[in-house]
Amino acid sequence: MAATVQQISLSSPFADQKPGTSGLRKSSKQFETPHYLESFIESSLRVLPGVAGGTLVVGGDGRYGNRRAIGVIARMAAAHGVARLITTTGGILSTPAASHLIRQNGAIGGVILSASHNPGGPEGDFGVKINGANGGPTPESITDAIFAVTQTLDGYRILEGTPELALDQPGSQQLSAMTVEVVDGVEAYVALMQKLFDFDAIGDLLRGDFPIAFDAMHAVTGPYATRILEGLLGAPAGTVRNGTPLEDFGGGHPDPNLTYAHELAELLLGSDAYRFGAACDGDGDRNMILGQRCFVNPSDSLAVLTANATLAPGYADGLAGVARSMPTSAAADVVAKDLGLPCYETPTGWKFFGNLLDAGRITLCGEESFGTGSNHIREKDGLWAVLFWLNILARRREPVAQIMAEHWNRFGRHYYSRHDYEAIASEAAHGLYKRVQEMQPALVGQAFAGRTIATADDFAYTDPVDGSLTSGQGLRLLLDDGSRVVLRLSGTGTQGATLRVYLESYVPPSGNLSQDPQAALGDLITAIDGLAEIKTRTGMDRPTVIT
Ligand code: G1P
Ligand code: ZN
Repeated sequence: MAATVQQISLSSPFADQKPGTSGLRKSSKQFETPHYLESFIESSLRVLPGVAGGTLVVGGDGRYGNRRAIGVIARMAAAHGVARLITTTGGILSTPAASHLIRQNGAIGGVILSASHNPGGPEGDFGVKINGANGGPTPESITDAIFAVTQTLDGYRILEGTPELALDQPGSQQLSAMTVEVVDGVEAYVALMQKLFDFDAIGDLLRGDFPIAFDAMHAVTGPYATRILEGLLGAPAGTVRNGTPLEDFGGGHPDPNLTYAHELAELLLGSDAYRFGAACDGDGDRNMILGQRCFVNPSDSLAVLTANATLAPGYADGLAGVARSMPTSAAADVVAKDLGLPCYETPTGWKFFGNLLDAGRITLCGEESFGTGSNHIREKDGLWAVLFWLNILARRREPVAQIMAEHWNRFGRHYYSRHDYEAIASEAAHGLYKRVQEMQPALVGQAFAGRTIATADDFAYTDPVDGSLTSGQGLRLLLDDGSRVVLRLSGTGTQGATLRVYLESYVPPSGNLSQDPQAALGDLITAIDGLAEIKTRTGMDRPTVIT
């Protein structure tokens, strides 16, 4: 059968295709309902500028549904006049590597198939992220426009009668008038890392007495980490654990934190077998950094990278500035101030860093949720953070714990923790949130955990580059000694609601720098539970995840 463009009519559009912080994320089952994936892709192809005659990048984290989605997107892209579609062997492409491919090939954007760290498989989640020509998540103006189209969609265009795409080998094939290029998804990314980091120094470190463990969590970073750490840098075979991407991530929850990457955490925190450990999430944009008996919280990680950036060749000339999301601790702010760098506080979500990076105002940015990145791409980048740390370790030749201790001795320590209450009833979460929101004006001047509430607000952000205003980004209680508590509802969960409680307290270099964070934050934890009635309203004795 010759390839023909089909116009499929829809009897009713899908009402629930609102992309959140990280694209459209739903259960795999939902994505398998007829026309669901197609409708979202159609809406995206109608909104993205430059589709006809343009280049589009497509790939994903290998989860269940990845290959099918690539086939559908290719046939729809061809029907919409895309000239060139770039995808990867096996369709495996990490989010950071996708960002790089988009930029490197002058593409109009990309479609990244991932639900990030959410579990995969037929019973798990699937997701579609639409990135723009700068390689980053599309701004709200585009996602809003896509959503608007989904609501009135009456049909879509797709090519039919085409053979299956051959994804197993690099090479080129035609899909009607569109060229499909299958490239090695790892190669270009590895070349980029070699430009940024001192591979000779890191190789020397890893070939010496410096055993490390990397956990790919059966997700997308396996092939990248194996080629880089074991291949190019000479770490022993077996350094990369769970390195083969599986459709259901081996039944795990590919989120690199102390709860879901507990095997690695136990190896590093409960034994002396390894000097350094790291893990990345499903699509490879998150990272967790561990030292021997030392957990590096992500806010501190951003601060350490900022303070030591010039040790890496890609950043040897210094930084333009740094940015962190609002819930991230102010550890990086203190370093930025010391270095005389501009420092920005943005709402949660990577897209807010994009404008600052594009405008050259910042070089590094990060979030408390295990996301760190730089101007090399427009997504956070898990393996990049791991290599940055290894570069610093190779140059400083000190244990991770000592680097942290020296950092706090110089800049002071931001005790920090995030408590997540996952999959709680939506009404309970929204009720709790709304109540605190309404109480806020009366809270200023009140006592809280032995301090006084100086400011109580709902975080809003005016983008310094384009002047756009984003409000309703999280309830903040800022205390008179610089401590704070923030409440936020997650925008990425797919079951019920998730309440996030962010706790932070600063101790200057002269103070007690070696407490357990949960103990150091104990009075804030008790006080916010009293104020927001977290335990009673969620019906949970303790958080699902404590970071
Ligand atoms: C979470 C994180 C946020 C991150 C996002 C995408 O969003 O908290 O920092 O940008 O995932 O990885 P949330 O579920 O809190 O809306
Ligand atoms: Zn991710």
